[in-house]
Amino acid sequence: MKTIAAVRRWRAGAAGPVVLVPTMGALHAGHVSLMEKAREEAGPGGAVIVSIFVNPTQFGPKEDLGRYPRPWEADRAKCARLGVAAIFRPEPGEMYADDRSTWVNEEAVSQGLCGASRPGHFRGVATVVLKLFNIVDADAAVFGRKDLQQCRVIARMVRDLDVPIRLVWGETVREADGLALSSRNVYLSEEERRQAPALRRGLLAARAAFRKGEERAARLRAIVAREITSQPLATVDYIEVVDGSSLAPVKRARRGDAIALAVWFGKTRLIDNVEM
Ligand code: PAJ
Repeated sequence: MKTIAAVRRWRAGAAGPVVLVPTMGALHAGHVSLMEKAREEAGPGGAVIVSIFVNPTQFGPKEDLGRYPRPWEADRAKCARLGVAAIFRPEPGEMYADDRSTWVNEEAVSQGLCGASRPGHFRGVATVVLKLFNIVDADAAVFGRKDLQQCRVIARMVRDLDVPIRLVWGETVREADGLALSSRNVYLSEEERRQAPALRRGLLAARAAFRKGEERAARLRAIVAREITSQPLATVDYIEVVDGSSLAPVKRARRGDAIALAVWFGKTRLIDNVEM
């Protein structure tokens, strides 16, 4: 389906619960695990709808909007195999009027971490996600914990604006060497790909230190940084120890806090996190 009207007609005819999985396509095993979770949430009488929309408003002017992968046939086949009932894949013109002037601005959780290095990103995310919620009118929606800050921004928006939807979080799916699956991993050169698992190794080393009693955020960050800066092609954007719900930086880590990071490999920016 490519139009909002078609989705609304489909929704009106759905008998049981409807569960939405918002994506930008280039579907990988991480997306697939969210669809499987959505299937469970929907139950035998329910239906899963996947949206595929490379949302221009969440990309900065120098970011990868133009070259973001769009393998539609492969995406369609994956959805079909998983028993997805409907796909919403609008063109930008269907989602945004040229003179659009209304935005969803979350003003706390979205400010640090990725929000600091990608100005406007979470405004674009929150706006498109609320639009998708309004278009689909789903009972529940599934998001991946890999994008921890995105999860928190959406949860805050849903609470603050009384959006009638249940949010479900999916675990991060990884390659065998620990690298979190991402549609952007295809940008990595062979050598960058070889170095990228350092993100996960660093996070696990810090979590292990925390479990052994190290609570000082500065020390935990240094443990992560040591692992990552030993990779010559890696440039750290940020490594932060944060409160698990507000995402505010903490000085001493406690259970339920998280370590979040973003690292550049050339022009490719990777993110990951670990909850403690
Ligand atoms: P996209 O990057 O396509 O991700 C779609 C969903 O898949 C998000 O909820 C994301 O957290 C989840 N995901 C990505 N990699 C994952 C992994 N390795 N394991 C588990 N889940 C993973 O996130 C977006 O699109 C957009 O910002 C969107 C929410 C669709 C709004 O445009």
